[in-house]
Amino acid sequence: MHTDPTDLLFHSERMETKRLLVQLSIIVLGMLSFSVDCIDRTYFPSSFLFGTATSSFQIEGAYLEDNKSLSNWDILTHIPGRIRDGSNAEITDDHYHRYMEDIELMESIGVNAYRFSISWSRILPRGRLGGTNSLGIAFYNRLINALLLKGIKPFATLNHYDIPQELEVGYGGWLNPQLQEEFGEFADICFREFGDRVKYWTTFNEPNIVVTYGYRIGSYPPNRCSRGFEDCWSGNSSTEPYVAAHHIILAHATAVETYRSKYQIKQEGAIGIAMSTTWFEPLRNITEDYKASQRALAFNAPWFLDPIIRGDYPSEMRQILGSRLPKFSGSDKRKLQSKLDFIGINHYTSLYVKDCPKCGAVGPKGDALVLTTGDRDGVPIGKKTAMTDMFVVPRGMEKIVMYTKQRYENISMFITENGYPQKSDHRTPLKILLNDKERVEYLQTYLTSLHRAMRQGADVRGYFIWSLMDNFEWLSGYSLRFGFYHVDYETQVRTPKLSATWYQEFLDNSKLLINEL
Ligand code: NOJ
Repeated sequence: MHTDPTDLLFHSERMETKRLLVQLSIIVLGMLSFSVDCIDRTYFPSSFLFGTATSSFQIEGAYLEDNKSLSNWDILTHIPGRIRDGSNAEITDDHYHRYMEDIELMESIGVNAYRFSISWSRILPRGRLGGTNSLGIAFYNRLINALLLKGIKPFATLNHYDIPQELEVGYGGWLNPQLQEEFGEFADICFREFGDRVKYWTTFNEPNIVVTYGYRIGSYPPNRCSRGFEDCWSGNSSTEPYVAAHHIILAHATAVETYRSKYQIKQEGAIGIAMSTTWFEPLRNITEDYKASQRALAFNAPWFLDPIIRGDYPSEMRQILGSRLPKFSGSDKRKLQSKLDFIGINHYTSLYVKDCPKCGAVGPKGDALVLTTGDRDGVPIGKKTAMTDMFVVPRGMEKIVMYTKQRYENISMFITENGYPQKSDHRTPLKILLNDKERVEYLQTYLTSLHRAMRQGADVRGYFIWSLMDNFEWLSGYSLRFGFYHVDYETQVRTPKLSATWYQEFLDNSKLLINEL
């Protein structure tokens, strides 16, 4: 029998990965033996999806290969000064060439699902009038088939932040209603080409972040904002985020309508949207702050979820924004009836909220007339992390899931992202990065909190950890690491961290001990 030398190479790398995982598992069990409470895989239904998450722009690299066009994030990352460490994602994890190795990593952890995104610029490099790129389709077919061979369910996101630059320039991005048809066509191609094997779809990832940072703050493409925010050429921070959001909501509806009418019955899959969620608590024990926290919540995920599920924007938003909030026409409302099958929750942290009637202006949440902070009388809401606005607050997971359950009548949910950042520069020793016990503690306490919500009846179907491996963290470049696997960007060597072993042990049903929360 002919043996491909690369098989041998992969084999020995696999052995090495397994050896490291075993070594780390001894450390992880020792480390946790001081604790009390415990949770394991058996606490969750056997059909529950346990996976890891990534996105195309952050891991694929090959930024101009096989007819891929430039996306708006390719452009932004090449403008000097925009990315904290001056880096870009031309190569990043080189996953486009190393996807087989990366699937082996998932296999060694033992996940049963993988959340990834499909690059619009690979499938339709010039938009719908430019024709489909068969090489882009072929890449995702290879990826999906290889996942299925390992028993890993593909969970695909159609749009994770970046869009083809040609659509940004030609249409003016999401400010133009025509992007709905462009997205609809892209979605249709993906359902047609991959839907026989992909049974879980999300239309958009964190559109609330895309429009807030793209059109209010101005730090994400297309860098539009009013004076007083970032350094933007033009824009209007008080109206454009709402217009862009309106078009994304309708683009979601267009894709779901297509899925329902042309594919869903035959393909038997489900479709949803993944929202960025933060749990907000009143800063002071006063009615004003309680109301402010409710406003902050409504201005976040419900901004998109209320129109999709209930047919219109939250009343809290209408009251403050008035005519700044676009209206849905009769035909929009008909389209919105296609709704969704599940809500994807990306959840990392919680913040305090203070009523601030005069706020308005600068900051991501100003329009909700609130101030957010992680600090109450000098005491942080939870342990600080490498990200300024991110604190470790496990209870937030239970709270946000219960809030979503109540607001949307216990619709199915997936935790599409949860994860922990490490700060890193060329001076950070590898040993420190591999020994990520803070991440282990974060994940296990958040999972316990999630389980508490499920015990109260929340219909949660799966949980994805961000991320399989370190990758390009948007404006922070490579200065933050979220991965189970450390990536050496010079050599592309992936090395399991303590957390990879923890997840493996957890999925293996080994009892893990958890601190009292
Ligand atoms: C949210 C985004 O979906 C993902 O792209 C990002 O890397 C993580 N959170 C961590 O910030």
